[in-house]
Amino acid sequence: MNSSRYAAIVGWGMALPRRLVTNDELAERIETSDEWIRSRTGILQRYVAGPDEPTSVLAAAAGRAALAQAGLGPEAVDTLIVATCTPDRPFPATACAVQQQLGMGRTAAFDLVAACSGFVYGLSVGTSLVRSGVSHVLLLIAADVFTHLIDWDDRNTCVLFGDGAGAVVLRADEAPFGALASNMGAWGGGETLMAVDAGGTLLPITPELLTQRRQYVYMNGREIFKHAVRGMCESAEQAVVEAGVSFDAIRLVVPHQANVRIIEAVAKRLGLPMERVFVNLDRYGNTSAASVPIALYEAAEQGRIVAGDLVLLTAFGGGLTWGSSVVRWGHGHG
Ligand code: ACO
Repeated sequence: MNSSRYAAIVGWGMALPRRLVTNDELAERIETSDEWIRSRTGILQRYVAGPDEPTSVLAAAAGRAALAQAGLGPEAVDTLIVATCTPDRPFPATACAVQQQLGMGRTAAFDLVAACSGFVYGLSVGTSLVRSGVSHVLLLIAADVFTHLIDWDDRNTCVLFGDGAGAVVLRADEAPFGALASNMGAWGGGETLMAVDAGGTLLPITPELLTQRRQYVYMNGREIFKHAVRGMCESAEQAVVEAGVSFDAIRLVVPHQANVRIIEAVAKRLGLPMERVFVNLDRYGNTSAASVPIALYEAAEQGRIVAGDLVLLTAFGGGLTWGSSVVRWGHGHG
């Protein structure tokens, strides 16, 4: 890695589908309640994509916003990564559709699949591409229409998720901004703690599988909870050590927004007060890969982070996957 070349975050954006769904609305059709969802998860509402809002449309909207914020046109981008586990089509990559919608030209474009860890994985990969000189301006978008995988009759999962997209623009910088230390991890032994079984090469869709509702996500919530706390804490600690800083130096932690109880457990174990942890899952639910960049966008817009601040991003998702980054917010000269 070139030690005098960094990958500063110079633009950020987000996008949501139009339709808002409250807890009460869910309680009208399944056996649940606003009180249960609030107290067990912290979620009050979520946005759900309509038929004209596939992943690429939300992704392109977030990417467009991030480019506008950076003051860059689509032609400036040389690499596009779309982190998603809910692609427009099984094949080809959603990144190619997004490239087309943004009018980006013949740039490299690929999808990255790491479920809810997609953005932190993408930041790690994107930063490496910029720091090694392969890319100069990289657009990283994390977008999921996770409700596509939801069985709306399954109260164990349907109350937890929402749809959305978040994006950042990474630009080569001589000053130490952007991700200063990152790590990624996975444990395939936990593959079926949370999964969609049907629709891939292992179990191609059949009428019988559809009747069994195997095209939808299932999840062992309690097990995932334990792994999430452990995965995020260990990778966050590693990133802070590798960045050569202490937790006292971190202005704000921006964690994956799955469940406020998971976030509180992580904060407690890391010895951080909740005032230094960003939470917005009350309004969006778990937006999968999009949750960290949406939270990062809102933290920046609300002035919770300003140029020069150190931000810790940490995420956990299906796979199982996890990862963290210590980011210096702001930029020097590109
Ligand atoms: N409404 C009412 N009752 C419910 C609901 C609901 N929506 N969902 C479950 N229950 C019931 C259960 O059936 C159970 O009833 P029982 O005791 O009679 O069997 C009871 O509530 C308690 O269930 P628990 O599983 O003990 O509830 P818990 O407090 O663990 O909360 C939850 C469940 C919210 C799923 C929690 O375990 C969790 O958040 N886990 C992490 C999940 C997660 O983050 N997944 C995403 C990973 S990221 C990615 O890659 C997309």
